[in-house]
Amino acid sequence: MEFQSKIKTIEWVDNYSKMVDQTKIPYEYSFINITSGDEMFTAIRTMIVRGAPAIGIAGAHGINLYAQELAKKNLTREDFVCELLQKADYMKTSRPTAVNLMWAVEKQKEIIKNSNSDINGIIEELVKNSIKLENEDIEINKKIGDYGAQIVPKGGTILTHCNAGALATVGYGTALGVVRSAYANDNTIKVFADETRPRQQGARITTFELVMDNIPVTLITDGMCSYFMKKGMIDVVIVGADRIAANGDTANKIGTYTVAIAAKYHNIPFYIAAPLSTIDTSIKSGDEIPIEERSAEEVTHINGQRICAEGVNIINPGFDVTPNELITGIITEKGIIKPDYKKSIAELF
Ligand code: MRU
Repeated sequence: MEFQSKIKTIEWVDNYSKMVDQTKIPYEYSFINITSGDEMFTAIRTMIVRGAPAIGIAGAHGINLYAQELAKKNLTREDFVCELLQKADYMKTSRPTAVNLMWAVEKQKEIIKNSNSDINGIIEELVKNSIKLENEDIEINKKIGDYGAQIVPKGGTILTHCNAGALATVGYGTALGVVRSAYANDNTIKVFADETRPRQQGARITTFELVMDNIPVTLITDGMCSYFMKKGMIDVVIVGADRIAANGDTANKIGTYTVAIAAKYHNIPFYIAAPLSTIDTSIKSGDEIPIEERSAEEVTHINGQRICAEGVNIINPGFDVTPNELITGIITEKGIIKPDYKKSIAELF
């Protein structure tokens, strides 16, 4: 049985990109139309759209938007291509850690470089390709969901961190795609969601989308996971990923590493759910993954209210890297990759 999720996070409509404004969740479920390349850059940077696969699609749409703008400038085809490729490289700098952004923008760059069409033809090809990537994202997530559902014990409780759901992708989700597929087979499974400070994607977004899809979810704060693991209340941990190195080391939202250590200590399986586009075979290990440093205000404030004394020092890395030895398996659209990751990832690519 297939689970039908109500959420479509991002889609190309006529000549603009329509997306859920995730900065408003859970107070409002509203959409925003992004109509220029620079607006898209800001939407990615300010996390109106967020989650590795979703920002990949946003980046691809951003190239469509830049192409439409450049087409109005009466450039020669050669200059159009040259300027558009520069804009594409600029788009890749909107956020540094999730490799899906670079992956999707590179797919658009291939279209630009290989096209034999005139300017309007190139735009048509770019739009067509971005819609293809959108549709494929949902299909891939459903495959990840189906493979992943096999590792969820009957009536089991899944702990997840951050939001790797429909709202982090075009729809359905990676870690929450596994939840959706498992729930379709067994509606006695349960989900625990970590709050995920500082931006609270677990509290704000994961619980929002699971409640919307009528899947039971319990919200816990980040420091509680070991307590519930010791009590035997967590059967499996499943999280998403922003970038996976060739040896399986995985960058995901800050706090994931702590959950993985706790899971290892309590002998609880810890899985990553991610599409192959999240695997960056150009880097050997997690040490090479660029970690985004975000604003101090994300830590000092909640909902615009200061929560600490003025004058404290702040460090705010957005992601951490979980070493491969803590990862039981990586659930992909081609099946579940197991250690030795260096070998199993190399075999897949
Ligand atoms: O900073 P965010 O909200 O973009 O970070 C999102 C995450 O870390 C997700 O867990 C990851 O991108 C996987 S999304 C399927």
